[in-house]
Amino acid sequence: MAHRIIAIDGPAAAGKGTLARRLAAHLGLPYLDTGLLYRAVGRRVLDRDESPSDPDAATSAARALLPADLERTDLRGPEADAAAAAVASVPGVRAALLQFQRGFGAARGAVLDGRDIGTVVFPGADLKLFITATPEARAHRRWLELRDRGVIVDPAEVERDIRARDQQDAARAIAPLRPADDAVVIDTTALDRDAAFAAVLDVACQRLGVANSDQVS
Ligand code: CDP
Repeated sequence: MAHRIIAIDGPAAAGKGTLARRLAAHLGLPYLDTGLLYRAVGRRVLDRDESPSDPDAATSAARALLPADLERTDLRGPEADAAAAAVASVPGVRAALLQFQRGFGAARGAVLDGRDIGTVVFPGADLKLFITATPEARAHRRWLELRDRGVIVDPAEVERDIRARDQQDAARAIAPLRPADDAVVIDTTALDRDAAFAAVLDVACQRLGVANSDQVS
């Protein structure tokens, strides 16, 4: 069977990552969290005491990115979130990361999650999902995630950060966050993890023409 590409996009903390990882495991496809690429570039810039919104600093960090950077343990948290969103607005960064993402998918097919997978990276993807939820629900989930990692923050601050990043991701000139015209939009506001996965699997099986238990790789 041909290699399948599944694009999963959506705003911050909508649950894309968990759903994408689970879908990839279920279908036997490799998985790439593309947000980690932007996070790792942001970290490299911060390591050098440069500004993540400086186009030259961000572009050279993206060109120097190594697979080991994705294993860093400091890629999550408010500082990493903000640095990732800043470098993600730099065209040179997006160009440098595009080849890597396309190469990853071309090798054996893949499930990729991010902001522009269905619109820019793989506009011809076999299946495009856009996972969303209200800002309040996403902020609450992110707050729980941080708390589970021992990071105690003000819930109102988490919601402010989420809304600011939504605004920045949707308003940027290059590859803004938006559903592809042919994406299936799934709102997970009222769904728990299992119900959201059931909804995703249902759409995936219908669109890919596979039985619920099949692997497609
Ligand atoms: O996990 P969360 O949804 O908070 O963020 P993420 O998916 O790890 O992405 C972090 C940041 O990287 C986002 O705010 C975007 O600015 C950027 N990003 C992007 O521009 N394009 C992608 N394909 C993935 C992430």
